[in-house]
Amino acid sequence: MSQATSPDAQHEHYFADDARDAVYRAIFSRRDVRGQFLPTPIPDETLARILTAAHFAPSVGYMQPWSFVLIREADVKQRIHAAFEEANAEAAEMFEGQRQEIYRELKLEGIREAPINILITCDRDRAGPVVIGRTHIKAMDIYSAVCAVQNLWLAARSEGLGVGWVSIFHQQALKEIIGLPERIIPIAYLCLGQVSHFKEKPELEAAGWRPRLPLEELVHFEHWGHSDADGADKLKAALRAAQQAASTRRRFALD
Ligand SMILES: Cc1cc2nc3c(=O)[nH]c(=O)nc-3n(C[C@H](O)[C@H](O)[C@H](O)COP(=O)(O)O)c2cc1C
Repeated sequence: MSQATSPDAQHEHYFADDARDAVYRAIFSRRDVRGQFLPTPIPDETLARILTAAHFAPSVGYMQPWSFVLIREADVKQRIHAAFEEANAEAAEMFEGQRQEIYRELKLEGIREAPINILITCDRDRAGPVVIGRTHIKAMDIYSAVCAVQNLWLAARSEGLGVGWVSIFHQQALKEIIGLPERIIPIAYLCLGQVSHFKEKPELEAAGWRPRLPLEELVHFEHWGHSDADGADKLKAALRAAQQAASTRRRFALD
């Protein structure tokens, strides 16, 4: 690790400023990509790095419950797309009035345009019936698989690749098309590829569907609903400044 330059970089585990910036840059410039995919194939070495990043995610009891189904063939993508279309038509009916109109305008998948689709799955039996850390909350394996999704998403962004998560499916349809055994759950159907550009803001934010919530209103002290504590005002001011910096893609102040 090169020498850190930040004044608060007091200890040896600190990332150097540039390295830390790069991590935050991946986080804040990551987007869910639906409509900007280019057909350029992804080199195996790049794909290998991204999948390895996913495989190094944390998992309950070190279960590593994930597997990765790589989908490149047009006929499989076509069947997946048809399953999306069916579910998406049902989904549109669940919104009313102007919301439904906006919904129908949204592009919510890039299944056929992306050069590769990746289904991340969760094997609920991978580590036997009793798993350290999952003795009481069984869904911990699913949360673990989602950690793999996020690792993949950020690694892809750092490689200049876009990822779009498509979740508008009947789960059973997805299982049948891909041929998943009963114990294997589909977690994330991801479209991956080079992109013409990354949008500045989440598409749902730009479309007026929902704004990004103020982080300071989501932080509680000791108990739910308590917004006051020693130093709360100072922390809230810092949260506002950090969210503002993240939204406008300024570098974080590192001191
Ligand atoms: C669990 C999950 C499921 C999602 N499903 C879809 C989906 O079916 N279609 C879609 O277009 N985006 C989907 N998204 C992307 C979200 O809409 C997106 O993350 C959110 O609007 C914020 O935008 P950003 O990812 O660009 O920051 C999903 C995201 C998550 C985490």
